[in-house]
Amino acid sequence: MKVHGTIRVPGDKSISHRALLFSALADGRSRIRNILPSADVHSTAGVLRALGVDVPELTSDLTVAGDGLRSLRAPSRDLDCGNSGTTTRLVTGIAAACRFASRFIGDASLSRRPMQRVARPLTTMGARFDFERGDGLPMVVHGAPLRPIEWFTETASAQTKSAILLAGLVGGVPVTVREPARSRDHTERMLGAMGVAIETHGTTVRLEPAERLTPLDMSVPSDPSSAAFMAALALLADDGELELPMVCLNETRTGFFRALARMGAHLELHTGEPQGGEVVGTVCARPSPLRGIDLDPAEVPSMIDELPLLACVAARARGVTTITGAAELRVKESDRIATTVANLRAVGVDADELPDGMRITGATNPLRGAIQTHGDHRIAMAFGILGALPGNEIAIDDPGCVAVSYPAFWDDLRRAIVQ
Ligand code: S3P
Repeated sequence: MKVHGTIRVPGDKSISHRALLFSALADGRSRIRNILPSADVHSTAGVLRALGVDVPELTSDLTVAGDGLRSLRAPSRDLDCGNSGTTTRLVTGIAAACRFASRFIGDASLSRRPMQRVARPLTTMGARFDFERGDGLPMVVHGAPLRPIEWFTETASAQTKSAILLAGLVGGVPVTVREPARSRDHTERMLGAMGVAIETHGTTVRLEPAERLTPLDMSVPSDPSSAAFMAALALLADDGELELPMVCLNETRTGFFRALARMGAHLELHTGEPQGGEVVGTVCARPSPLRGIDLDPAEVPSMIDELPLLACVAARARGVTTITGAAELRVKESDRIATTVANLRAVGVDADELPDGMRITGATNPLRGAIQTHGDHRIAMAFGILGALPGNEIAIDDPGCVAVSYPAFWDDLRRAIVQ
């Protein structure tokens, strides 16, 4: 099988959410190009509309009129976050500082995901939370005047960190967040570019209250987590090369590419001009014989969303790959340790669950069988890559769930393959 050409993968999901949310809180009109029009980002747009913000349709050149940090209005309906953890947790931080109550709901997968990780610090700051069932959605956030906080998070999570930073920003109080490892830093970069005094020292971030946010004028770079699928396809192909331009190469997101390089991948990252405070560049990937690795747990946060794909790539590498320090995968859109391992086994790969990761033994046998995505977009795409390789036949129960982050995934996959 040969791959060929240039694929511009869609805009980064994390940056798209933040661009919409922060523009809504800015003083004036922001211009956002290349926003990702996926289901998750539509959830953020819908939630902002319910909070009184006039968010237009998500076109490739979008203007959002912001009316300031305290302009959100009490919602007249539930805030439906769909499948999106980022929407839920970031908006929770904002809602904690607003003088009204908001009820958050989501789909079955999102409703199972833990919310105490944001409720605990925000309660300490002065907001109040009502949970109807355990630790998940539906959840009512009663906003209140907030107190400053210094918080140490138990797991590296950009969503938790961002919720606290946004509560400080909208509540007008200084906040400090310390993490066990550095999570993605798009909130810090974007708020910094909008004029907020925000400082990072190692794994500690401190935000000082700001009077106003300067509107954005930016182009959203391509999503490295989406580019990862196309890069994996090129590495596992027999011939050819794929070029993936304009990808966000922020080092808090590029752990997957570093891990692949250690596996022996022919992968080149060419850094270009920074855009909107983010490092952007081209990824070139060519077929490569790969070997298994022991993944360094310290690298996990920088590739957290790519681990199911890494496991699928490891299934075609020589030797054993061990992923540890990744217990966080159990509380993603699905339990990604259980779903990845069960699906690898279902198609004939030797794989085992570990409490905080997985072990995969690579082989060259044809992979055949049916996999269950549990509605998880990244599981569908990771197995979509394996299924596209010659000799493999993998049936995917819900291919449409890729719409959460990469609606054109199947089209791009077909375009990348020459024969
Ligand atoms: C995200 C942070 C990560 C990641 C998710 C997007 C973000 O989640 O898995 O896909 O945009 O902040 P955690 O913060 O829970 O690690």
